Amino acid sequence: MYMKQKKEQAEVVAPKVEPKVEKAETDDKEKKTGAKAPPELLRGFRDILPEEQGKWNLVRDRIRAIAEAYTFDRIDLPILERSDIFLRTLGKQTDVIEKEMYVFVDPSGKSVALRPEATASVARAYINHGMLDRPHPVKLWYEGPMFRHDRPQAGRYRQFNQVGFESIGASEPIVDAQLIVLGTQIFRDLGLDIQVQVNSIGTPACRQAYLAELVSYFRPHRNKLSEDDKRRLQKNPLRLLDSKEEGMKELLADAPQILDWLDDASKEHFTRVLEFLEEIQIPYVLNPYLVRGLDYYTHTVFEFVEKTTDPDRAQNALGGGGRYDGLIELMGGRPTPACGFALGMERIVKALGDQGINPPQRPQPNVFFAQLGDAARRVGLKLYEDFRQAGIPVAEAFGKNALKAQLEIANKLGVKLTIILGQKEVLDGTIIIRDMESGAQEIVDVNKIVGVVKRKLSSEEEVVKPIVRQSPVARD
Ligand code: HAM
Repeated sequence: MYMKQKKEQAEVVAPKVEPKVEKAETDDKEKKTGAKAPPELLRGFRDILPEEQGKWNLVRDRIRAIAEAYTFDRIDLPILERSDIFLRTLGKQTDVIEKEMYVFVDPSGKSVALRPEATASVARAYINHGMLDRPHPVKLWYEGPMFRHDRPQAGRYRQFNQVGFESIGASEPIVDAQLIVLGTQIFRDLGLDIQVQVNSIGTPACRQAYLAELVSYFRPHRNKLSEDDKRRLQKNPLRLLDSKEEGMKELLADAPQILDWLDDASKEHFTRVLEFLEEIQIPYVLNPYLVRGLDYYTHTVFEFVEKTTDPDRAQNALGGGGRYDGLIELMGGRPTPACGFALGMERIVKALGDQGINPPQRPQPNVFFAQLGDAARRVGLKLYEDFRQAGIPVAEAFGKNALKAQLEIANKLGVKLTIILGQKEVLDGTIIIRDMESGAQEIVDVNKIVGVVKRKLSSEEEVVKPIVRQSPVARD
């Protein structure tokens, strides 16, 4: 107990990092104009507005259906993890670790990070929950926000959403191929035209010899390299292969290619993956420069790239992944092969818009509920539930009092029927139905209204027997 307390105390007193507080742009504006400036949205962050949700739902629904069809199980992982989970696995010299992680010390003194990706978290969960005992491969999929303090630009956000698929525990090339097939099917289902790019970066052992060769090829050209590429040459030469810097194209054309340095087992693995893809007729392009931006990959790496003439979009992959046979062992688990990929949701939603693919419109409500007075509101709330349970969407403006204003809204929404409940109707146990096109109104028993509306919507010709009285509302 004493030890535990001691430990907790120790955690609380861990050094506090004093964050450099950046002044909000709005502060200056406020000082100058005296007016309250609108609140500021952080750069690289965005709101997904109601009008965009249709596309998001389309993407989410199709992906969920495919995940289930390929028998992947959903896993939800925390957004905040201990930072060492990523520091130990993604690679010290990667952009993500060097400059993009949101790392901070939490109130108990632990160094934590907003997850920049989720593969490391999946591997952690696999170890933590003893998934070793489950039938293999363990096939998991996830969806959610990731955070990278990247330079905001087209297709790059600091908070973005990924959907990911991880297949853990099988080393066979068919697993790599099936993941590529799965990803391709997602794009086919969405109607997006993409290209699959593949490469193999072998095992860490055969990569070592290749890297030495790559460095000796680039060293004489060092003065032609940008500062960033000079750094890569020294710290992470493999990343030179996907450098987008001016002038690198020519140098890269003559650079040694990793495929020539693969050992026999790696070559065999990669050849089998490609054979499977050919067998199932998934077109692919061999991209010898594809190395991916994280260090945990072994053997097959792949990306899904939008087919477009816009260079900005062509540069931003819609998704990518590969095999990561060493990751789980690196995190303290038993040696366990694995393979997976993740898709960037923002980029996919944007591509849908750019390629003119729109989701089917969500059916608009055909019924509007208008109420007059408090008693009507009370009955209205209950009635609204009756309609919901009957599966009839009903629009309303409970916040409004005047009937005129409510009917204007109903008109704008283009509903077929408005049901109107006034004080008198509440007392009588009735309700008015107004046909918005003809303006005709009928009074019906409030207890039968759901059935009556249902019939009217399914067959407009259906005759509803009115209850005798002429409502005052009807004379409006
Ligand atoms: P990644 O290539 O870093 O891989 O990210 C996968 C996808 O997330 C990218 O292809 C892109 O569509 C999207 N993405 C990445 N960064 C951003 C950003 N700043 N803004 C918008 N979208 C972005 C991974 O994260 C690996 N965990 C994938 C994986 C799973 N490998 C094996 N299993």
